[in-house]
Order: sequence, then structure tokens, then C-alpha cells
Amino acid sequence: MKISAAVVAAAFSLAFSFILVNFTGQCDAALQQGFYKGKCNSQDVEAIVASVVKRRFNDKPRVAAGLIRLFFHDCFVNGCDASILLDGDSSEKTAPPNLSVSGYDVIDEAKGLLEEACAGIVSCADIIAIAARDAVQLSGGGRYEVQTGRRDGFVSLASNVDLPSPRFSVSQSADAFSKKGIGLTDMVLLLGGHTIGFTNCSLFRDRLYNFDNTGKPDPTMDPLLVMKLRLICPQNSPATRTPVSVDQNLASTFIVDNSFYKQIRLGRGILQIDQALALDPLTNNTVASLANGNDFLARFGQAMVKLGAVDVLTDSQGEIRESCHLKNKPRSTFLFG
Ligand code: HEM
Repeated sequence: MKISAAVVAAAFSLAFSFILVNFTGQCDAALQQGFYKGKCNSQDVEAIVASVVKRRFNDKPRVAAGLIRLFFHDCFVNGCDASILLDGDSSEKTAPPNLSVSGYDVIDEAKGLLEEACAGIVSCADIIAIAARDAVQLSGGGRYEVQTGRRDGFVSLASNVDLPSPRFSVSQSADAFSKKGIGLTDMVLLLGGHTIGFTNCSLFRDRLYNFDNTGKPDPTMDPLLVMKLRLICPQNSPATRTPVSVDQNLASTFIVDNSFYKQIRLGRGILQIDQALALDPLTNNTVASLANGNDFLARFGQAMVKLGAVDVLTDSQGEIRESCHLKNKPRSTFLFG
């Protein structure tokens, strides 16, 4: 049997691109930087999203933390497919960990502008990823190139929301991340997302008063911090009262930097999982090197790109939603005959 040179060349080229994709190791092969270039009537898709995020951020810097968390909560449940945005009585956004997620209105505003610029082209999943990148940049975290080409999913169920608990140990959390293809170091980097934003008292009150049913505070928390937080989060305030939140990173609530790692090394982690990172032998060396080094921002950006590639839908999978809140209506087909 004769095999033509063209067939051999094609086979080599296929094998080579397979190797290349697997060794770049960064991401899903179908995602790429600048996916929308030339696809949106000469409009710059990323610039449109950036203009919305920037305006909202200038008005309220707090919006950045909401967008970064929205990205994590989307990607960790069913992959980065904007399933968190779908409405419904039992959709993901109704699950308890998602009730305090914010930033939905920013995504809606960007989607509205993009539908005007080029209808049916830009996925809601990509808007979340671009907005999270812009949020990091606006918060001083430097710019990383975001990959795009995601499509939107059809399934959104609260029962699928199995996000890691703030009371997880490092190994429990590592298990959860490894199920999404994210290793230990990237987990430590991504938890650096807690360098900004807020945490509700109900999520760490046990650490202040009755850690592990000892009737005492968590011995790993700086005693001065325990005193300070007890003033903000009283022991007996029922969960139903106005929820009170505290800064996740007492050194810089609105700035993405490595101070989070410095704080947790001083016993000033608010969430149990954050504190555990600094103490557990699995992660303490990484924490020390991030606290003392100057490469956090670049590495955080790379880890966000990896998070953005978790279980994505690409090419002919999923759809490009017309509204981020709803699956597209099935197109009606007419049969003549
Ligand atoms: C083991 C993994 C994680 C756990 C257990 C966790 C848990 C939490 C909790 C309990 C809160 C406070 C929510 C509230 O007060 O209602 C929070 C906030 C936040 N998380 Fe995480 N998180 C994790 C990973 C991540 C990752 C990977 C990112 C981003 C890359 C992230 C970004 C944020 C941000 C920015 C906030 C502040 C949100 C705001 O102020 O609106 N988290 N997280």
C-alpha cells in the first residue's frame, strides 16, 4: 500500500500540534488569546468589556472582588460555561455559596453592549473571564492575557454546586482543586484571590469563640485579631440579622498583591482554609516564597488563565446565549411538503 507524502506530512503535523498543545500545558487547546479579533464588526470585544468594568470599578472598587469570585464560582461548577448566570428556581445562583456572589449586573451591561456591537458572537462565559482579568488589573494585580473562545452551557443546577468549604483542610481543598485539574501550587496562588474582598462573620465565627468545640478561639489566629474580630462579629448575633462582613486581607482590602501571604504567616488569616495554607507542610513553603518574593502577580495571572480553562465548552459545543440569564429558545423549523 502506497502512502502519499501529503498524508505523511498531515499525520506529522497533527502529531506535532498535539505534542505542542500538551507541552504548553497552559490551557484548553481550543481557547486562544484574541479569539474575537475580526469577529465583531471591527469592534474590540475586550475593550468593550474593559470600559464597563472600569466605569463600575471607578464608581465602586468593591466590584472587583465580586467579579473575581464570580469567575471562580462559575469555573468550579460545570466548568467556565456561565452556568452560574442562568436564572431558575433551582439554578446554581440559588445555591447557598452563590447567594453572596456579586457582579452579575456588570456582566449584563457588558453583554448588552456586545450584543449591540455584534449579536450572537461573544459568549457570557468569556465576558466573565475578561471581566475578572480586568478586575485584577484595576486592583493593581497587573495585566495577564486572557484566553477566549468559550461557549455557554445549558445546565445550571444548585445541586451541582460543590464548592470547597472555608472550613476545609489543605488536603481536602487540594482534592477539590485536583478534580478540576489544578495542582497544589496553583491552588495556593488562586487562594491569593482572597487578597481582596470581604467575608461574612458566619463563615469564621467558630474560630473566634468555639473552635472545634473547645469553647476557645482557634489557637492559630493572632490573639489581637481575635479580639478585634470579636467586636465586629458578636458571638450570639443570629445569622438572620443584617449580615456583617470583614476585610479578608486586613493589609489591603482593595489591592491585589502578595500581602495576603504575609498576613496569613502572621496568623491573620480570616478563613480557616486561608490560615491553614500558611501552616500545612503541603503548602507552607509556597506561601513563604510568595510572601517574600516579587513574582506573585505574574504567577497569579497564569493561575487565573488555568482556572479559566477548566472544563470549557468550545467550537460546536454549547451555544452563544442571547441573554446571559437564559438559554436560547430552540429555533422553530417549518416543514413543507
Ligand atoms: C478553597 C477554595 C476557596 C474557598 C473555601 C473560598 C471561600 C470563600 C468565602 C467563604 C468567601 C466569603 C464569602 C461571603 O462572605 O459570603 C470568599 C470570598 C472571596 N473569594 Fe473565595 N474561596 C476559595 C477560593 C477562591 C478563589 C480560587 C478565588 C479567586 C481566584 C476566590 C476569590 C474570592 C474573592 C475575591 C472573595 C471576596 C468576594 C467579595 O468581597 O465580594 N476564592 N471565598
